[in-house]
Amino acid sequence: MAPGLSQIVGQGAAAVLESKPAESDALVLFGATGDLCHRKIFPSLYQLVRRGRLKMPVIGVAKAGWNRDQLVARLRDSIGNFVKDADPAVVESLVGLVQYVDGDYGALETFRQLRGLLGEAQHPLHYFAIPPSMFPIVVTQLAAADCDRGARVVVEKPFGRDLASAHALNRTLHQIFEERAICRIDHYLGKEPVQNLLFFRFANSFLEPIWNRNYIASIQITMAEDIGVAGRGKFYDEAGAIRDVIQNHLLQVISFLAMEPPVNGSGEALRDEAVKVFKALRPLAPKDLVRGQFKGYREEPGVAPDSKVETFAAVRFHLDSWRWSGVPFYVRAGKRLPVTATEVVVELRQPPTRVFGDPPCQPNYLRFRVGPDPAIAMGAHAKQAGERMAGREVELYVDERAPEQMEPYERLIGDAISGDATLFAREDEVEAAWAAVDPVLNVATPVYEYDPGTWGPPEAFNIIYGDCGWHDPGPTAQSWTRWPMRF
Ligand code: BG6
Repeated sequence: MAPGLSQIVGQGAAAVLESKPAESDALVLFGATGDLCHRKIFPSLYQLVRRGRLKMPVIGVAKAGWNRDQLVARLRDSIGNFVKDADPAVVESLVGLVQYVDGDYGALETFRQLRGLLGEAQHPLHYFAIPPSMFPIVVTQLAAADCDRGARVVVEKPFGRDLASAHALNRTLHQIFEERAICRIDHYLGKEPVQNLLFFRFANSFLEPIWNRNYIASIQITMAEDIGVAGRGKFYDEAGAIRDVIQNHLLQVISFLAMEPPVNGSGEALRDEAVKVFKALRPLAPKDLVRGQFKGYREEPGVAPDSKVETFAAVRFHLDSWRWSGVPFYVRAGKRLPVTATEVVVELRQPPTRVFGDPPCQPNYLRFRVGPDPAIAMGAHAKQAGERMAGREVELYVDERAPEQMEPYERLIGDAISGDATLFAREDEVEAAWAAVDPVLNVATPVYEYDPGTWGPPEAFNIIYGDCGWHDPGPTAQSWTRWPMRF
């Protein structure tokens, strides 16, 4: 069995005492004929079968007028497209697990058929790869057809589109499912380098003394994508960068960077600390936000011709806590930027005096390259060879690429099957994260145009206090641009 994060981080008494949830014994995929199953879920199921983690029935449910053969053909197509060098024997094992129910989610008969296929299963895992608007009816029908007993449910982001709708969604799910039976997938938490942020922080004693407002000047997080909305114009135009990635993925990254040491490595202890971070976030004010939209976005299919939705956002968060008071957390995310890369840069304060003349212009820093090629680096200054006490910048660099990394969806579906909730967002976390961004969601702040292939509108510079700007990730982990100065 794959180790839960609790096993990796370490266990205190409470972690050991946490009762072990039952392993799922059937996987039900609502929305089985849809895009998410094709792109992400089926390839992950292949990997789970390959590792011997998936042996239970996989029951697809959809209203597509399909039969099982068509679903199997779709599954084969998905694996052909998204799994390199798939082993035919593994594919056949997966195909052998697949069953299918075609029917309307509004019809009880669909769920009666599902009940029949579930047979002896005691702990089905229902995966909602469907729009949130369908959750209420599916939840109601699951209960009506007695498919909810002993079950867990996996739901996909977005968990609502603001605080009020997130709250309503949680209420809907709670009509039938207890909080511990709900797995809210934020695939960023399934990424190895994101988990490594947490591990690196709490497994290294040299960090703790400096990991606070006394030594850290600022933290920058950039999530850049060179692609546009990639055929998802309709979805994206109802979301925008803040809802799509900042409220969830990037706030989760902040929680790993900023949380207090959890009392143990259990899922609940980690999530308790994450929620404290979100509660300490000062709700965003318009002055802490610059929105941008790439030129040409309004011509994308599905996008309104007069859309004011941001494809870029630069945000300044403040954490009103003992540890972080006065340390800005700068967050930037955008589409059609020069590269696809996510990086965290922790900037340290300058030394208090200039023992060897002028201070180095670049501060010490820690740099976590989250993707696509993970790395951890530490920026320092060393003496240049020669008579003068003059410095040069050096970077201590660790390449974190692993030959075989588990994809986030594989990791998270595996965790949902074993009931390890550590990497799933809890209700109070999700709502507290929404509360932090809610005040700017419906406020008409300016949306500045930017040219595709640039780092967003120049106004984004104003988010950074002081004279230094954003650090720009490069196409490779070692090709980043250090803090440009303000002109
Ligand atoms: C998704 C967003 O959650 O994350 C997409 O909806 C974004 O807009 C994607 O492209 C990025 O994920 P990754 O794993 O490619 O960094």
